[in-house]
Amino acid sequence: MEVIITEEEQIGSLVADEIQQLLAGKPEAVLGLATGSSPLHVYDELARRTAEGEMSFARARGFTLDEYVGLPSWHPCSYRTVIDEELVSRVDFAPDAVRALDGSAADLAEACAEYERGIEAAGGVDLQILGIGTDGHIAFNEPGSSFASRTRVKTLTAQTRRDNARFFGGEVDAVPRHCVTQGLGTIMQARRIVLIAIGGGKAEAVHHLVEGAVSAKWPGTILQHHPHVTLVVDEAAASRLQFADYYRYVYAYRDAVGEAPAA
Ligand code: F6R
Repeated sequence: MEVIITEEEQIGSLVADEIQQLLAGKPEAVLGLATGSSPLHVYDELARRTAEGEMSFARARGFTLDEYVGLPSWHPCSYRTVIDEELVSRVDFAPDAVRALDGSAADLAEACAEYERGIEAAGGVDLQILGIGTDGHIAFNEPGSSFASRTRVKTLTAQTRRDNARFFGGEVDAVPRHCVTQGLGTIMQARRIVLIAIGGGKAEAVHHLVEGAVSAKWPGTILQHHPHVTLVVDEAAASRLQFADYYRYVYAYRDAVGEAPAA
């Protein structure tokens, strides 16, 4: 796993560079789109670059990760609304190019199965953007999630509901108890994964993700088994990494392989 420790202000352009490079080589690429606060700098930077004509999403497609059960898609806190506001409406995706899970479907199991089929029909996710919860969840795969899981209904932990109450006017009771989420097995099929973590509240989850034992207790640890993951974190989120100096050193010399040794 590549670990990049940087200033929060640099995260947007670092990750946008990856996406811009992907779309330059594969304009029809499929993006996996996280919601929540972690990717906001990236989406701001993508909107800016699109407005400046530096990149285009005209042929790209996208899939969001998860959705609350019971919120209609127009609800201000639904992830459909969030991704539309934070990214889709600010770049040049074709209409309907970004799909989101339907948390108010009459048959949630069928909606989840159909979502899996949609990802497969699109050729799979080329680059998945992830955040991580303070309890180690990725998408809404809470502790105890099967590493083989596919898109399905899950129950949010009390901690996740408390953490996300800030999006619901501070009202924990307003945060739905259930969600639909891509599974860990689904996420692991993305060809490339970029996970963003910002702030000291994520430090413990980040430590386990990179340096802990792979365990259902910290679901994000499954990413240790993925061949191409980049973790982009600020200093606070990196504060519990035991090998932080080594990761900084690796990053500083990332382009130096093959250089002649200094005389
Ligand atoms: C959101 C998602 C979640 C968030 C995580 C961190 O689509 O999948 O896993 O990435 O809860 O949330 P923030 O970024 O708001 O701290």
